[in-house]
Amino acid sequence: MLLLLFLCPGDANYNKEKDINLEKKTTGGGLEEFLVSPRKQNWTRCGDKMCQCKGYQARCVNHGHHLTYIPRFKQKITKLNFTGNYLPFIDNETFTNITELKLACLVLRNSSIQNCTRNAFNGLKSLRSLFIRNNTISSMELINCLSGVTKDLNNLNLEFIYLDKPWDLDLDKIMTDSKIDNLHLRNIEITHYNQSKLSTFKHVEIIRIYKSSINTITLDYSSTLKKLEFAHNPFSEFPTFCVNGYAYFPHLTYLNLRHNNIQSIKSELLTCMKFLTQFHIDNNRIHLIESNTFSNLPKLFLVSISYNGPDMVLQEFAFNSSSLKELYLYDNDIYFVNGKKHVNKDAFQYCTQLEELSVSSNHFGFTTNQMFEEIFGTLVNLRSLSVAHGGLEFLPSFIPKYLKKIEKLLFSGNNIIHIQEGYFNNLNSLKIIEINSNKIATVKQNTFSLQFLKQVKSIDLSNNTFSCNCELLWFINFLKTSPIRKRFNHFPKEYICGSPTVFKGKQLLQVRLSERICLTMYHIIIITVLTEILLLLTISFVYRYRWHLRYIMYVARFQRIRSHRLLNGGVNYKYDAYLSSCDADFDDVIYHELVPRLEGNMGLRLYIPQRDGQGNKIDQIISKMGVSRKVILFLSDKYVEDRYCEFEASFAYNKYINEKRDLMIAVVLKELRAKNVTKTILKILAVDNNIKWGWDEESLELFWLKITTAINNMDDLIVE
Ligand SMILES: *[C@@H]1O[C@H](CO)[C@@H](O)[C@H](O)[C@H]1NC(C)=O
Ligand SMILES: *[C@@H]1O[C@H](CO)[C@@H](O)[C@H](O)[C@H]1NC(C)=O
Ligand SMILES: *[C@@H]1O[C@H](CO)[C@@H](O)[C@H](O)[C@H]1NC(C)=O
Ligand SMILES: *[C@@H]1O[C@H](CO)[C@@H](O)[C@H](O)[C@H]1NC(C)=O
Repeated sequence: MLLLLFLCPGDANYNKEKDINLEKKTTGGGLEEFLVSPRKQNWTRCGDKMCQCKGYQARCVNHGHHLTYIPRFKQKITKLNFTGNYLPFIDNETFTNITELKLACLVLRNSSIQNCTRNAFNGLKSLRSLFIRNNTISSMELINCLSGVTKDLNNLNLEFIYLDKPWDLDLDKIMTDSKIDNLHLRNIEITHYNQSKLSTFKHVEIIRIYKSSINTITLDYSSTLKKLEFAHNPFSEFPTFCVNGYAYFPHLTYLNLRHNNIQSIKSELLTCMKFLTQFHIDNNRIHLIESNTFSNLPKLFLVSISYNGPDMVLQEFAFNSSSLKELYLYDNDIYFVNGKKHVNKDAFQYCTQLEELSVSSNHFGFTTNQMFEEIFGTLVNLRSLSVAHGGLEFLPSFIPKYLKKIEKLLFSGNNIIHIQEGYFNNLNSLKIIEINSNKIATVKQNTFSLQFLKQVKSIDLSNNTFSCNCELLWFINFLKTSPIRKRFNHFPKEYICGSPTVFKGKQLLQVRLSERICLTMYHIIIITVLTEILLLLTISFVYRYRWHLRYIMYVARFQRIRSHRLLNGGVNYKYDAYLSSCDADFDDVIYHELVPRLEGNMGLRLYIPQRDGQGNKIDQIISKMGVSRKVILFLSDKYVEDRYCEFEASFAYNKYINEKRDLMIAVVLKELRAKNVTKTILKILAVDNNIKWGWDEESLELFWLKITTAINNMDDLIVE
């Protein structure tokens, strides 16, 4: 019935083990009552008013010399925390007040224990967990204490015990046939660990020995041991877990050797443990991972070898494993360059199951794109990759090329200057990106696709050295207006201009850079460039004259038609709108999103050259634009570069000027590069009703509102 009472809720360290124990022992009755009942109650005074009780727990804390005995309790107590009182002498009388209680858990902390008789604990038959911490006691007296403890004890926890000499941990002698399954020792001097002195622990599953000055280790067989931790000790030899392939701990699943002084991992001393799933050996002095170190551990899924080195070398097939999923190699002073003294290009071959890799805080300043591909190109199942603080100067191309399943990319604290256009666009699972604290100067509209920004959960570009000039205008406006900005971590506080001097140190959000100013700047550049180009044009592009001549004739004819139309009070156009767009943009947005809505929902009659055009293109442009009420121009870089589009644009503009018709609706599909803002485009954009294609839902709404208003404006003749 009291199967679970050995648990001591309240101790943080021990609680971690609770899950393991719960799994194993939930069959006992009365469990719910024990675990659930104390929760809603308050602590009330008890035990000669020196203690507090709640449910089954009692604590008598910090009375120093005023509390020198264990009081009587009226309540049914199973856990007693006796901390910071004065109990220098423990004998068979000490616990008489609680022997009737079925006490399962006893904590004796800071209680100045000095002497202990062999029979002191004899009365506590139900004890399952015993914590003794922070007491100065001779090893003789400690042995006395433990020898009287019931054999049914499961959990023994000794911490900060200051003995007169190192302890040999010979528990066989004093705790024969003990049912201990969890032995935890910390800060208690044990220079030599000898497993054979624990051979009567037939049930032991967890042994943890922290900060206990272990220098040497001799192991012996235990079929029950599942979890072993020797951490923060000074030993330097890799313990001999295997002898000729025979395992001392055949069922070990978890091995932690952190913070010791080990210099090499000897695979032949490790690979006999076929059930090993986790291996931690951080903070040692490992500087070489040999070929196939882990290849014979079929259940291994986590290896953590961080804070080792210096100059760690990774040999070919170092991580060959058919099961490894998580690998942590940060801060090992590894130079990720090919070569015997550094990283063999095949070091990460044959560990294709790997899902999480951290190689942060190593050296990537000399790693070329090709080396990245060779070293990491086969890790196609990676979900999380961390290459932070490594002096990396660029975003390596192997990531978009091979890591199609990647969800998390961490690049903080490098020297990355530039995010390649569309770098992330095809990483459909990517959710978290950190490129904070790098040297990114600009982010443009094409850096991320809208689709990508919609899918990503968190993106951190904080603490970069942004150049707050016209190139960044789109990003600044985007951060000011788009709801997606919430996904940008640490915005706005840590998004700061690094240049120019006027804006240095200012938040991006505070920068006032209007589109008008930027356009004027383009204007100045463009006009100078254009004057030169124009000269060339007049000489070489005679070809164009044909269209213009044709146009001039058309305009002359039109003047007559216009006066005629005005006289008759307008005209019935054949089409509501003429769609002028370049072929490259046509499929994406225009044909699939705009056309169905304009034709289907709004019932407009559209003329679409790509769909409806036949015969000579120039003739078509001239005649069809003449019978369309509006001309919608979808501007983009490709548009400007296409000579038919260019013609359509200038034709429409000239119609606007000459016929005095408000016919143009300019839609900026993609922000134009400076060189593409030609004179005609500039003039078109200056006719003030141009509309931007939306990036997010807000601007999409705005787009539709504007375009609907523009098309519905029947009053298209500008009457003088
Ligand atoms: C016992 O009480 C002390 C002092 O309040 C507390 O720090 C400790 O966490 C409690 N529990 C255990 C298991 O030590
Ligand atoms: C038992 O408790 C009583 C009162 O609570 C106290 O006076 C007595 O000294 C205690 N006995 C021992 C052996 O500690
Ligand atoms: C404690 O032990 C002593 C001798 O070992 C014995 O005389 C005494 O009766 C014991 N007291 C109790 C309460 O068991
Ligand atoms: C990888 O490990 C397996 C299993 O130990 C082994 O058979 C294979 O030869 C190793 N591959 C290489 C390239 O060493």
